[in-house]
Order: sequence, then C-alpha cells, then structure tokens
Amino acid sequence: MRLQNKKALITGGGSGIGRATALAMAAEGADVAVVDINLAAAQAVAKEVEALGVKALGIAGDVADEASVQAAVAEAASAFGTISVLFNNAGIIRRANVIDTTTAEWDQVMGVNVRGVFLMCKSVVPLMIANGGGSIINTGSGWGLKGGGDALSYCASKAAVVNMTRALAIDHGKDGVRVNSVNPGDTNTPMLREEARQLSQEEASFLTEANDRPLQRMGTPEEIAEAVVWLASDASSYVTGSALVVDGGGIA
Ligand SMILES: NC(=O)c1ccc[n+]([C@@H]2O[C@H](COP(=O)([O-])OP(=O)(O)OC[C@H]3O[C@@H](n4cnc5c(N)ncnc54)[C@H](O)[C@@H]3O)[C@@H](O)[C@H]2O)c1
Repeated sequence: MRLQNKKALITGGGSGIGRATALAMAAEGADVAVVDINLAAAQAVAKEVEALGVKALGIAGDVADEASVQAAVAEAASAFGTISVLFNNAGIIRRANVIDTTTAEWDQVMGVNVRGVFLMCKSVVPLMIANGGGSIINTGSGWGLKGGGDALSYCASKAAVVNMTRALAIDHGKDGVRVNSVNPGDTNTPMLREEARQLSQEEASFLTEANDRPLQRMGTPEEIAEAVVWLASDASSYVTGSALVVDGGGIA
C-alpha cells in the first residue's frame, strides 16, 4: 500500500484521468476527496472509491471560483483531518486559433486550468505546511512543453501550469511540500472526443491520429494515474519541480 494514511484531494475527479487516479490512489490505501463541477459524477466516483475500503467524499466544486475552492478544501480537511496529496487535474480545452478564440473562452480556459491550480494551492499549501509537508501534482500536457495547433488558450494555460509547478516547488521545498507536473499525451477520455467535436472532425479519424506516436497508441487514464500515484507516494521523495511526461514518446 503505497499511499497508506495519505489524504488526497483530486479536482476533476469525476471523469477520465481524475477518476482513474481516485481509484488508483484508493487501491493504494489513500482516503480520497473527489471534487468536480459535476456533483453527480463526483458522487458516483466517490462511491466507487468507497467500495475499495477507504474513506471517500464527492464534493461539488468549481476550481475557478475562490469561495467554492475554499469550501471544498475545508470540507475535505475537516472530514480527513488534513490534505497530504493534492492532484490539480481539472481542465478544459478550446480548440481554436487566436482569431477564433473569443475573449470569454480565453478567460474560461485560463480560469479553470491556471487560476484553478493557483486557488487550490493557495488553500491547500498552508494545510500541508502545518502538517510538515505534502505532495502536489498538477496536470500539464505535452502541449505545455511544446506548441500545438488550434489550441492557443490551452497551450498557454498548460505552459503556465508547468512553470507554476516549478515556482511552487522552489518556494515550498523548505516546507516539505513537493510539487510536480504530470504531462500526458493523448489519453483515452471524454476530453479527446470533445476535441473531435470542437474541430468538427470525425471521431474515428481523430482517435487514429492520436495513436500516431512511438508506442503507436494513445494512453489510458490508468497509465497516467500510475505516474500520479508514484509522485504522490514517498517513493518519489527526492522529486520536486519536475515535469514528468507520460505520452508514449509523443513529444520525444
Ligand atoms: N485526455 C487527454 O488527452 C489529455 C492530454 C493532456 C492533458 N490532459 C489533461 O488532463 C486533465 C484531465 O483531463 P481528462 O482527459 O480526464 O478530461 P475529462 O473531460 O474526462 O475530465 C475533466 C473533469 O474536470 C471537470 N471539470 C471541468 N471544469 C471544472 C471546474 N471548473 N471545476 C472542477 N472540475 C471541473 C469535468 O467535470 C470533468 O469531470 C485535464 O487537465 C486535461 O487538460 C488530458
């Protein structure tokens, strides 16, 4: 049990990578608070987590909203005693270039993907410091490390996540708080199908393109979860400020 006694909070835990990570962390012994803007999804995953024999919470929360973040963190911390693992995973994408991205869409993507990570860390880092440390994992993307087409706001937001991670690691290493980013390539979740829809591309051809990488297939949410569990666990005790790429060799 690699996460025995850990108390985890996962944003965007109601679907895809967040859900798979909630289950993987629970299987390793962590109690898990699943925070999602979609309460029904958060509660459904919390039920699955509970079935693995740990404590679980399904909490409605919008990571872009400060009051909502504070309430979600307070609920999890009071139920579990503290938060020792934070997985900032909630994210959205808008597939458009600079001309077609509306100002509202830019603000929405930055609000969830960047402000969300900032607000969560602002609430959780003091709890971790009071507790002698913790592990924060932020979901970046291959497109936070290199550019991508028709995804201007997303690329900007994920590059911000990768570098915020380094800044957080520098500030809070002395507090025992480790901060790393996990950077998936195309991973088989509802987000990929949403991208095909936004680009008006046929789903099958979009998914075939996603397989085009050295390992010749897209990733599974469970494969990303495995990397996050490692970063959350004491097995990665000397790792902070890193950008771990889990993408089948896509950006290699
Ligand atoms: N799927 C991929 O190919 C891929 C690749 C690289 C990075 N990522 C990143 O991985 C993360 C998870 O993506 P996924 O593929 O599992 O997507 P997903 O769409 O399956 O899940 C995202 C979850 O976040 C929740 N969410 C959205 N806005 C929120 C908000 N404001 N507050 C709280 N929750 C919110 C959604 O309700 C959903 O449950 C995202 O940050 C995404 O950018 C995904």
